Amino acid sequence: MSTFKAFEVSEVADKQFKSAIVEKSIAALPTGDVLIEVHYSSLNYKDALSASGNKGVTRNYPHTPGIDAAGVIAESSDSSLPAGTEVIVIGYDLGMNTAGGFGQFIRVPSQWVIPLPDGLSLRESMILGTAGFTAALCLEKLFRNGLEDKQGEVLVTGATGGVGIVAVALLSRLGYRVVASTGKKESHDRLRSLGASDIIERNELSEANSKPMVAERWVGAVDVVGGDTLFNVIKGLRYGASVAACGLVQSPMFNASVFPFILRGVNLLGIDSVQLPLSHKKAVWNKLASEWKLENLDKLSTEIGFGELQDCLQQVLAGRAEGRWVLNLKR
Ligand SMILES: NC(=O)c1ccc[n+]([C@@H]2O[C@H](COP(=O)([O-])OP(=O)(O)OC[C@H]3O[C@@H](n4cnc5c(N)ncnc54)[C@H](OP(=O)(O)O)[C@@H]3O)[C@@H](O)[C@H]2O)c1
Repeated sequence: MSTFKAFEVSEVADKQFKSAIVEKSIAALPTGDVLIEVHYSSLNYKDALSASGNKGVTRNYPHTPGIDAAGVIAESSDSSLPAGTEVIVIGYDLGMNTAGGFGQFIRVPSQWVIPLPDGLSLRESMILGTAGFTAALCLEKLFRNGLEDKQGEVLVTGATGGVGIVAVALLSRLGYRVVASTGKKESHDRLRSLGASDIIERNELSEANSKPMVAERWVGAVDVVGGDTLFNVIKGLRYGASVAACGLVQSPMFNASVFPFILRGVNLLGIDSVQLPLSHKKAVWNKLASEWKLENLDKLSTEIGFGELQDCLQQVLAGRAEGRWVLNLKR
């Protein structure tokens, strides 16, 4: 096969972008030592930004987004990753300025490639994708910073989104009491069925207020929202507790005071899934395939094909995403 199908975004006029399903040539893929036939990809917030022409994510168009890919090696010049190996690629430059997982083939450096761990299928790995992987990173860092109280409440913001929904399910699976913050009234039952013990309205956390701190409530928190929400979460952390901050859907900026840090000794933990060393990525994927394996992964996701991709990306950008969307590249 010398050509393949891909979702491609082009700049048709200044700041005007349009997408189409096109036929691309394998020979035109970037250089790299591993050619992968992609079976599944998934939708992440960053893909929606890239597909909408956000030059902070993707500098040059035409471009095929898709920061996640899972598939089978078709050609390789790295003897440790022979043809036929099932693999996962997430992060690094995939889908940003390197043609990504919304195409049926990718070519990447072997340093980006993770053999699929036993215990996960290609499809399951993409139900998790970068979002689920990031939820696991948040939990791992919270645990390393002392989260162990299973009686207190752990807060997850943006709880129906990709990172949030996996964080809710994982925390519940590991025996924690989870409070889910969401702006979607219609999703309360779904969040409870995934293990949330309580739900709070997104608005309760999103408005700035002048109080230096609020009552201590959270023994830990996963925040995907940033902005004023993040500082409100920090203000409500219990003494010595931590929040893992990974997102910016409300805003990348937030105003804060030092009071919760110097009076309650709380911690703000930064999370990066993109440039994390490959050895650390492998260890987290192994955990997701074994002791942290979620048995209800299908409940978190909806499978789509090329035909539904553009519409779903727009929903992600509009904050209407719910759960994980898995892209089946053969549909
Ligand atoms: N640091 C990293 O390595 C890393 C990795 C992956 C993702 N991220 C970031 O994490 C964030 C979430 O990613 P995702 O894949 O979960 O995105 P997503 O699927 O689009 O979910 C985001 C969720 O946030 C909530 N939300 C949307 N707009 C909001 C607003 N204006 N104010 C407050 N809440 C709002 C919604 O949930 P509710 O309706 O339930 O409130 C939405 O479903 C993004 O900023 C993404 O870039 C970072």
